[in-house]
Amino acid sequence: MSFSFENQVALVTGAASGIGLATAKAFAQAGASVALADVNGEAARAAAEELVRAGFKAIGIRCDVADVDQVEAMVKETVATFGRLDAAFNNAGIQNILAEMADATVDDYDKVMSVNLRGVWSCMKFELLHMRRQGSGTIVNCSSLGGLVGGAERANYHAAKHGVIGLTKSAALEYAARNIRVNAVCPGLIWTPMADQMVAAGQGEALEAMVKSVPMGRHGRPEEIADAVLWLSSNTSSFVTGQSISVDGGFVMR
Ligand SMILES: NC(=O)c1ccc[n+]([C@@H]2O[C@H](COP(=O)([O-])OP(=O)(O)OC[C@H]3O[C@@H](n4cnc5c(N)ncnc54)[C@H](O)[C@@H]3O)[C@@H](O)[C@H]2O)c1
Repeated sequence: MSFSFENQVALVTGAASGIGLATAKAFAQAGASVALADVNGEAARAAAEELVRAGFKAIGIRCDVADVDQVEAMVKETVATFGRLDAAFNNAGIQNILAEMADATVDDYDKVMSVNLRGVWSCMKFELLHMRRQGSGTIVNCSSLGGLVGGAERANYHAAKHGVIGLTKSAALEYAARNIRVNAVCPGLIWTPMADQMVAAGQGEALEAMVKSVPMGRHGRPEEIADAVLWLSSNTSSFVTGQSISVDGGFVMR
């Protein structure tokens, strides 16, 4: 399915890599002006410049979503540059340090929560502030299969991703009658630099074991998440809000 986002503005966090980068490209190819935000500002700007060289409209913004002031500035810069904000994909996220709960540290808990949950909260707050004034908009938050099931040694990550679904449903209820829809995607195992990092951290075997339990028997591609995000951001999903859509090769259905 192809979508048109002509004359629309999209904002993607964690846009320098993996799922965020694939989604930013897909928005640009569908005609949107795209703000690519990432804590790695250099990579975000480089990705945006590549899109501009290819004839698309894009800017790169350095933003650490754990810093609420930077999030406010990111939304303001997007609107100041392109005039509006139609679609936001709150995607930036990090893994926790693998540890069973008795051994996990407060530092890791705080770090994961500040990016994966408070980061999404801050993004939604300032995006909604603008969309409420504008009278329209869509938000897609990046949860995970970890937002739907538990995960041994991954409690901090799974708790944050469960929280993202709570934020999604609550905001969807608040804004359902005001032409603003809020949904989440729950990626399964997607091959991105995050997966490369897990392999580098010695989790390659665990990853392979997880792939064997994917009913489709393979990893997903970042572009397969981008397709779901574009659908949820487009008018073709106009009666869908508050949902958490699994894109995981069937992983969580049993
Ligand atoms: N890859 C998977 O299998 C998988 C599965 C389920 C959910 N997810 C989720 O998808 C999202 C994207 O993951 P990915 O696999 O593309 O990872 P990735 O590591 O390839 O990309 C994540 C991007 O987020 C950026 N980032 C990290 N912390 C940030 C911060 N504080 N502020 C702004 N940007 C920040 C990184 O610099 C990076 O560019 C994450 O929320 C992740 O939890 C991934």
